[in-house]
Amino acid sequence: MRILLTGRTGQVGSALERALAPLGELAAFDRKGLDLQFIGNAISKAKPDIIVNAAAYTAVDRAEQEKELAFAVNAAAVGELARQAKAIGALLVHFSTDFVFDGEKAAPYVETDTPNPLNVYGQSKLEGERAIASSGCRHVVFRTSWVYAPRGRNFMHAILAAAKTKPELRVVDDQRGAPTSSDAIAGAVAQVLAKPDPLKKAGGLYHLSASGATTWHGFATAILEAKGLKTPVLAIRSNEYPAAARRPKNSLLDNGRLRSDFGIALADWREGLAAVLRAVH
Ligand SMILES: NC(=O)c1ccc[n+]([C@@H]2O[C@H](COP(=O)([O-])OP(=O)(O)OC[C@H]3O[C@@H](n4cnc5c(N)ncnc54)[C@H](OP(=O)(O)O)[C@@H]3O)[C@@H](O)[C@H]2O)c1
Repeated sequence: MRILLTGRTGQVGSALERALAPLGELAAFDRKGLDLQFIGNAISKAKPDIIVNAAAYTAVDRAEQEKELAFAVNAAAVGELARQAKAIGALLVHFSTDFVFDGEKAAPYVETDTPNPLNVYGQSKLEGERAIASSGCRHVVFRTSWVYAPRGRNFMHAILAAAKTKPELRVVDDQRGAPTSSDAIAGAVAQVLAKPDPLKKAGGLYHLSASGATTWHGFATAILEAKGLKTPVLAIRSNEYPAAARRPKNSLLDNGRLRSDFGIALADWREGLAAVLRAVH
Protein backbone atom coordinates (compact mmCIF):
# COMPACT_ATOMS: atom_id res chain seq x y z
CA MET A 1 0.00 0.00 0.00
CA ARG A 2 1.43 3.38 -1.03
CA ILE A 3 0.63 6.28 1.30
CA LEU A 4 1.38 9.92 0.55
CA LEU A 5 1.44 12.18 3.61
CA THR A 6 1.50 15.99 3.52
CA GLY A 7 2.34 18.35 6.39
CA ARG A 8 4.93 16.09 8.02
CA THR A 9 6.35 19.01 10.07
CA GLY A 10 3.00 19.73 11.73
CA GLN A 11 1.68 18.38 15.03
CA VAL A 12 -0.63 15.79 13.46
CA GLY A 13 1.62 15.21 10.44
CA SER A 14 4.66 14.25 12.49
CA ALA A 15 2.61 11.87 14.66
CA LEU A 16 1.13 10.37 11.49
CA GLU A 17 4.55 9.85 9.95
CA ARG A 18 5.40 7.57 12.87
CA ALA A 19 2.00 5.85 13.08
CA LEU A 20 1.53 5.19 9.35
CA ALA A 21 5.05 3.93 8.58
CA PRO A 22 4.25 0.30 9.48
CA LEU A 23 1.21 0.25 7.17
CA GLY A 24 3.03 0.37 3.85
CA GLU A 25 5.28 2.43 1.64
CA LEU A 26 5.06 5.92 3.13
CA ALA A 27 6.16 9.06 1.30
CA ALA A 28 5.98 11.96 3.75
CA PHE A 29 6.29 15.54 2.48
CA ASP A 30 6.98 18.85 4.18
CA ARG A 31 5.89 22.14 2.63
CA LYS A 32 9.07 22.36 0.53
CA GLY A 33 8.52 18.91 -0.93
CA LEU A 34 4.81 19.41 -1.59
CA ASP A 35 3.29 22.86 -1.24
CA LEU A 36 -0.49 22.56 -1.21
CA GLN A 37 -0.76 25.74 -3.23
CA PHE A 38 1.36 24.26 -6.02
CA ILE A 39 0.34 20.63 -6.16
CA GLY A 40 1.06 20.31 -9.87
CA ASN A 41 1.24 16.67 -10.86
CA ALA A 42 2.68 15.45 -7.53
CA ILE A 43 -0.22 13.08 -6.97
CA SER A 44 -0.41 11.52 -10.41
CA LYS A 45 3.36 11.06 -10.32
CA ALA A 46 3.41 9.34 -6.91
CA LYS A 47 0.24 7.29 -7.63
CA PRO A 48 -0.55 6.64 -3.95
CA ASP A 49 -3.38 4.35 -2.85
CA ILE A 50 -4.02 6.72 0.05
CA ILE A 51 -3.40 10.46 0.40
CA VAL A 52 -3.30 11.70 4.00
CA ASN A 53 -3.48 15.48 4.11
CA ALA A 54 -2.21 16.79 7.45
CA ALA A 55 -1.16 20.13 5.92
CA ALA A 56 -3.34 23.15 6.52
CA TYR A 57 -3.35 26.87 7.20
CA THR A 58 -3.90 26.81 11.00
CA ALA A 59 -3.25 30.38 12.19
CA VAL A 60 -6.76 31.00 13.52
CA ASP A 61 -6.37 34.66 14.51
CA ARG A 62 -4.12 35.65 11.60
CA ALA A 63 -6.65 34.17 9.18
CA GLU A 64 -8.96 37.11 9.92
CA GLN A 65 -6.38 39.26 8.07
CA GLU A 66 -5.23 36.57 5.62
CA LYS A 67 -8.56 35.32 4.33
CA GLU A 68 -7.31 34.75 0.79
CA LEU A 69 -4.38 32.62 1.94
CA ALA A 70 -6.52 30.61 4.38
CA PHE A 71 -9.03 29.82 1.63
CA ALA A 72 -6.28 29.10 -0.93
CA VAL A 73 -4.72 26.44 1.33
CA ASN A 74 -7.73 25.07 3.22
CA ALA A 75 -10.33 25.20 0.45
CA ALA A 76 -9.00 25.64 -3.12
CA ALA A 77 -5.92 23.43 -2.68
CA VAL A 78 -7.93 20.78 -0.84
CA GLY A 79 -10.43 20.78 -3.72
CA GLU A 80 -7.55 20.22 -6.15
CA LEU A 81 -6.17 17.42 -3.98
CA ALA A 82 -9.62 15.80 -4.00
CA ARG A 83 -9.92 16.11 -7.80
CA GLN A 84 -6.53 14.45 -8.22
CA ALA A 85 -7.44 11.73 -5.71
CA LYS A 86 -10.61 11.05 -7.70
CA ALA A 87 -8.64 10.94 -10.97
CA ILE A 88 -6.34 8.16 -9.74
CA GLY A 89 -8.90 6.41 -7.51
CA ALA A 90 -6.98 7.14 -4.28
CA LEU A 91 -8.59 7.37 -0.87
CA LEU A 92 -8.24 10.89 0.58
CA VAL A 93 -7.89 11.21 4.36
CA HIS A 94 -8.25 14.80 5.54
CA PHE A 95 -8.65 16.75 8.79
CA SER A 96 -11.14 19.40 9.74
CA THR A 97 -12.14 21.19 12.90
CA ASP A 98 -14.71 21.83 15.62
CA PHE A 99 -14.48 25.47 14.48
CA VAL A 100 -16.94 24.71 11.65
CA PHE A 101 -19.62 25.02 14.38
CA ASP A 102 -20.86 28.14 16.16
CA GLY A 103 -20.85 26.48 19.60
CA GLU A 104 -24.44 27.37 20.39
CA LYS A 105 -25.56 23.73 20.77
CA ALA A 106 -25.76 22.51 24.37
CA ALA A 107 -24.76 18.88 23.62
CA PRO A 108 -21.67 17.58 21.75
CA TYR A 109 -21.90 18.05 17.98
CA VAL A 110 -22.69 15.13 15.67
CA GLU A 111 -21.58 14.95 12.03
CA THR A 112 -25.06 15.83 10.74
CA ASP A 113 -25.33 19.07 12.76
CA THR A 114 -25.41 22.18 10.61
CA PRO A 115 -22.07 24.02 10.52
CA ASN A 116 -21.99 27.76 11.08
CA PRO A 117 -18.38 28.89 11.52
CA LEU A 118 -17.68 32.01 13.58
CA ASN A 119 -14.30 32.80 12.02
CA VAL A 120 -12.43 32.82 8.70
CA TYR A 121 -10.36 29.73 9.58
CA GLY A 122 -13.56 27.75 10.29
CA GLN A 123 -15.13 29.00 7.06
CA SER A 124 -12.08 27.99 5.04
CA LYS A 125 -12.00 24.51 6.61
CA LEU A 126 -15.72 24.04 5.95
CA GLU A 127 -15.20 25.04 2.32
CA GLY A 128 -12.46 22.38 2.14
CA GLU A 129 -14.83 19.72 3.53
CA ARG A 130 -17.42 20.67 0.93
CA ALA A 131 -14.89 20.61 -1.91
CA ILE A 132 -13.94 17.05 -0.95
CA ALA A 133 -17.55 15.90 -0.70
CA SER A 134 -18.48 17.39 -4.07
CA SER A 135 -15.37 15.99 -5.84
CA GLY A 136 -16.76 12.48 -5.61
CA CYS A 137 -13.42 11.05 -4.40
CA ARG A 138 -13.36 8.25 -1.83
CA HIS A 139 -12.67 10.04 1.41
CA VAL A 140 -12.59 10.11 5.18
CA VAL A 141 -12.59 13.52 6.86
CA PHE A 142 -11.80 13.59 10.57
CA ARG A 143 -12.95 16.67 12.45
CA THR A 144 -10.83 17.05 15.55
CA SER A 145 -10.38 19.66 18.27
CA TRP A 146 -7.92 21.46 20.56
CA VAL A 147 -4.87 19.65 19.18
CA TYR A 148 -1.58 19.60 21.07
CA ALA A 149 1.64 17.60 20.83
CA PRO A 150 5.01 17.19 22.55
CA ARG A 151 6.43 19.58 19.93
CA GLY A 152 4.91 22.43 17.96
CA ARG A 153 3.15 25.66 18.77
CA ASN A 154 0.24 24.81 21.00
CA PHE A 155 -1.69 25.80 24.12
CA MET A 156 0.15 23.35 26.39
CA HIS A 157 3.56 24.82 25.57
CA ALA A 158 2.25 28.38 25.81
CA ILE A 159 0.89 27.67 29.31
CA LEU A 160 4.09 25.97 30.48
CA ALA A 161 6.20 28.87 29.22
CA ALA A 162 3.90 31.52 30.72
CA ALA A 163 3.76 29.73 34.10
CA LYS A 164 7.53 30.03 34.37
CA THR A 165 7.63 33.78 33.72
CA LYS A 166 4.34 35.29 34.92
CA PRO A 167 3.09 35.71 38.51
CA GLU A 168 -0.38 34.44 37.52
CA LEU A 169 -2.20 33.21 34.43
CA ARG A 170 -5.62 34.35 33.20
CA VAL A 171 -7.31 31.62 31.15
CA VAL A 172 -10.71 31.45 29.45
CA ASP A 173 -13.26 29.33 31.30
CA ASP A 174 -16.35 29.67 29.12
CA GLN A 175 -15.28 27.59 26.12
CA ARG A 176 -15.72 23.83 26.46
CA GLY A 177 -13.88 21.18 24.49
CA ALA A 178 -11.71 18.08 24.51
CA PRO A 179 -7.94 18.61 24.20
CA THR A 180 -6.78 15.93 21.77
CA SER A 181 -3.18 14.83 21.41
CA SER A 182 -1.67 14.40 17.97
CA ASP A 183 -0.57 10.87 18.91
CA ALA A 184 -4.13 9.88 19.82
CA ILE A 185 -5.35 11.22 16.46
CA ALA A 186 -2.59 9.46 14.52
CA GLY A 187 -3.18 6.19 16.37
CA ALA A 188 -6.88 6.24 15.49
CA VAL A 189 -6.20 7.09 11.84
CA ALA A 190 -3.69 4.23 11.61
CA GLN A 191 -6.26 1.86 13.12
CA VAL A 192 -8.84 2.92 10.52
CA LEU A 193 -6.41 2.57 7.63
CA ALA A 194 -5.21 -0.82 8.87
CA LYS A 195 -8.71 -2.26 8.29
CA PRO A 196 -8.82 -4.52 5.20
CA ASP A 197 -11.06 -2.03 3.38
CA PRO A 198 -11.51 1.10 5.47
CA LEU A 199 -14.42 2.31 3.37
CA LYS A 200 -16.30 -1.00 3.18
CA LYS A 201 -18.56 0.01 6.04
CA ALA A 202 -18.73 3.72 5.53
CA GLY A 203 -16.74 6.85 4.85
CA GLY A 204 -17.27 10.57 4.82
CA LEU A 205 -17.21 12.68 7.91
CA TYR A 206 -16.13 11.49 11.38
CA HIS A 207 -15.70 13.33 14.66
CA LEU A 208 -12.40 12.31 16.30
CA SER A 209 -11.52 13.80 19.66
CA ALA A 210 -10.47 12.73 23.14
CA SER A 211 -13.16 11.58 25.57
CA GLY A 212 -14.29 13.82 28.39
CA ALA A 213 -14.61 17.57 28.48
CA THR A 214 -12.97 20.59 30.05
CA THR A 215 -12.42 24.29 29.48
CA TRP A 216 -9.18 26.05 28.55
CA HIS A 217 -8.93 26.98 32.23
CA GLY A 218 -9.41 23.33 33.25
CA PHE A 219 -6.81 22.25 30.71
CA ALA A 220 -4.29 24.84 31.92
CA THR A 221 -4.86 23.84 35.55
CA ALA A 222 -4.32 20.16 34.71
CA ILE A 223 -1.09 20.95 32.81
CA LEU A 224 0.37 22.92 35.72
CA GLU A 225 -0.77 20.35 38.31
CA ALA A 226 0.87 17.55 36.36
CA LYS A 227 4.14 19.51 36.20
CA GLY A 228 3.97 20.54 39.88
CA LEU A 229 3.87 24.24 38.96
CA LYS A 230 2.12 26.44 41.51
CA THR A 231 1.40 29.55 39.38
CA PRO A 232 -2.23 30.58 40.09
CA VAL A 233 -4.61 30.19 37.15
CA LEU A 234 -7.47 32.70 37.19
CA ALA A 235 -10.66 31.89 35.29
CA ILE A 236 -11.76 34.63 32.89
CA ARG A 237 -14.49 34.99 30.27
CA SER A 238 -13.82 35.02 26.51
CA ASN A 239 -14.62 38.74 26.31
CA GLU A 240 -11.81 39.46 28.79
CA TYR A 241 -9.27 37.86 26.44
CA PRO A 242 -9.25 39.85 23.22
CA ALA A 243 -8.54 37.75 20.13
CA ALA A 244 -8.99 38.56 16.44
CA ALA A 245 -11.10 35.44 15.75
CA ARG A 246 -14.27 34.49 17.65
CA ARG A 247 -14.30 30.94 19.05
CA PRO A 248 -17.26 28.62 19.74
CA LYS A 249 -18.37 28.22 23.38
CA ASN A 250 -19.01 24.52 22.79
CA SER A 251 -16.35 22.62 20.83
CA LEU A 252 -17.35 19.15 21.98
CA LEU A 253 -17.62 16.52 19.24
CA ASP A 254 -19.72 13.36 19.61
CA ASN A 255 -17.52 10.44 18.46
CA GLY A 256 -20.41 7.92 18.23
CA ARG A 257 -20.08 7.38 14.47
CA LEU A 258 -16.37 6.56 14.76
CA ARG A 259 -17.17 4.11 17.54
CA SER A 260 -19.98 2.34 15.70
CA ASP A 261 -18.33 2.18 12.25
CA PHE A 262 -14.75 1.43 13.29
CA GLY A 263 -14.95 0.40 16.97
CA ILE A 264 -12.56 3.21 17.92
CA ALA A 265 -12.84 5.46 20.98
CA LEU A 266 -10.09 7.77 22.17
CA ALA A 267 -9.07 7.81 25.83
CA ASP A 268 -9.99 10.62 28.21
CA TRP A 269 -8.14 13.90 27.55
CA ARG A 270 -6.34 13.58 30.92
CA GLU A 271 -4.74 10.30 29.81
CA GLY A 272 -3.64 11.94 26.57
CA LEU A 273 -2.13 14.83 28.53
CA ALA A 274 -0.21 12.49 30.83
CA ALA A 275 1.25 10.67 27.81
CA VAL A 276 2.26 13.91 26.06
CA LEU A 277 3.85 15.33 29.22
CA ARG A 278 5.87 12.12 29.60
CA ALA A 279 7.20 12.70 26.08
CA VAL A 280 8.10 16.31 26.95
CA HIS A 281 9.91 15.14 30.18
N1 LIG B 1 -4.31 22.61 15.94
C1 LIG B 1 -5.57 22.45 16.32
O1 LIG B 1 -5.96 22.79 17.46
C2 LIG B 1 -6.57 21.82 15.38
C3 LIG B 1 -7.90 21.69 15.81
C4 LIG B 1 -8.82 21.10 14.95
C5 LIG B 1 -8.43 20.66 13.70
N2 LIG B 1 -7.14 20.83 13.29
C6 LIG B 1 -6.78 20.37 11.94
O2 LIG B 1 -5.86 19.29 12.07
C7 LIG B 1 -4.96 19.29 10.97
C8 LIG B 1 -3.52 19.27 11.48
O3 LIG B 1 -3.31 20.44 12.29
P1 LIG B 1 -1.97 20.65 13.12
O4 LIG B 1 -2.35 21.13 14.46
O5 LIG B 1 -1.09 19.48 12.97
O6 LIG B 1 -1.36 21.90 12.31
P2 LIG B 1 0.11 22.51 12.36
O7 LIG B 1 0.90 21.93 13.48
O8 LIG B 1 -0.06 23.98 12.24
O9 LIG B 1 0.75 21.95 11.01
C9 LIG B 1 0.30 22.39 9.77
C10 LIG B 1 1.18 21.77 8.71
O10 LIG B 1 0.73 22.25 7.44
C11 LIG B 1 1.87 22.71 6.72
N3 LIG B 1 1.46 23.69 5.73
C12 LIG B 1 0.91 24.90 5.91
N4 LIG B 1 0.68 25.49 4.72
C13 LIG B 1 1.09 24.61 3.77
C14 LIG B 1 1.12 24.62 2.36
N5 LIG B 1 0.68 25.66 1.66
N6 LIG B 1 1.59 23.52 1.72
C15 LIG B 1 2.06 22.47 2.39
N7 LIG B 1 2.08 22.39 3.73
C16 LIG B 1 1.60 23.47 4.40
C17 LIG B 1 2.82 23.27 7.77
O11 LIG B 1 4.10 23.37 7.24
P3 LIG B 1 5.19 24.40 7.88
O12 LIG B 1 5.75 23.66 9.06
O13 LIG B 1 6.16 24.60 6.78
O14 LIG B 1 4.44 25.64 8.25
C18 LIG B 1 2.67 22.16 8.83
O15 LIG B 1 3.45 21.02 8.48
C19 LIG B 1 -5.32 20.53 10.13
O16 LIG B 1 -6.18 20.14 9.09
C20 LIG B 1 -6.07 21.41 11.12
O17 LIG B 1 -6.96 22.28 10.45
C21 LIG B 1 -6.19 21.38 14.11
